[in-house]
Amino acid sequence: MGEPDTRNRALLAWYHREARTLPWRGRTDPWEILVSEVMLQQTQASRVAERYEAFLAAFPTPGALAAAPLPDALAHWQGLGYPRRVVRLRDAAAHVASHGWPRTPDALRRLPGVGPYTAAAVACFAFGVPVAAVDTNLRRVLSRWEGRHLGPGEAERLAASLIDRRRPADWNQALMDLGALLCRPTRPDCPRCPVASWCTDPSAYRPPRRQPPYVGSHREARGRVLAALLEAAATEEELTRSTALPRDRVRRAVASLLDDGLVRRDGPRLSVADG
Ligand code: ADE
Repeated sequence: MGEPDTRNRALLAWYHREARTLPWRGRTDPWEILVSEVMLQQTQASRVAERYEAFLAAFPTPGALAAAPLPDALAHWQGLGYPRRVVRLRDAAAHVASHGWPRTPDALRRLPGVGPYTAAAVACFAFGVPVAAVDTNLRRVLSRWEGRHLGPGEAERLAASLIDRRRPADWNQALMDLGALLCRPTRPDCPRCPVASWCTDPSAYRPPRRQPPYVGSHREARGRVLAALLEAAATEEELTRSTALPRDRVRRAVASLLDDGLVRRDGPRLSVADG
């Protein structure tokens, strides 16, 4: 038995003891998986876990989301941020509702809003394709195992050679949990790590720059303006009052929401687009 096999056994044994309980775990329905992975693209797992089931209850199938008015879809996305994701998810749902599910990573990637990571996750968790879903968390873990900072392509090639082909879904999820619980970006908990003896250098990974603070950001202003417009159509002046944001921040937020097609203007009145 080679080294990677022994390491995988230690990793999977740890996963069976320590796995996080997350509402999308153990599911194999491609819609339920796609929804979770799109939410997880830019939102942390604990926040996604709070919203996931309500979204699926509202839109239990691709056809249900495809048929929903955009304001309903946006209302159910509230709190997750980056609302363009739900617009693309709805486009992807419409494609699946008319043409059925693509089942390979390459075909899944042609769906709106689905990049290489999300395509691999859906192919693996829903269709059992033995493909690694490499996001920045996996790249960090693999870089430390290798003892050097890996680029995305290198990390993918390495992951493809290491994945446990009998239990690919568990292998992917185990690495995600290892990255979230122990092999964190800063201060990795090596003493508790089940695969520390195969790890070359925990300092090999250079964390990307931290996200700028949300409070005071353009993203915050966009979120508050969109939330206000989901309550009721309003003018820019009314939005300035209801959001309690400075006028110029409201103006910039409105301009970018119009630009994204999330909001439309009718004279001075702004409302959530229903496209
Ligand atoms: N981050 C991205 N996908 C995930 C998943 N399936 N489980 C936990 N965290 C994730």
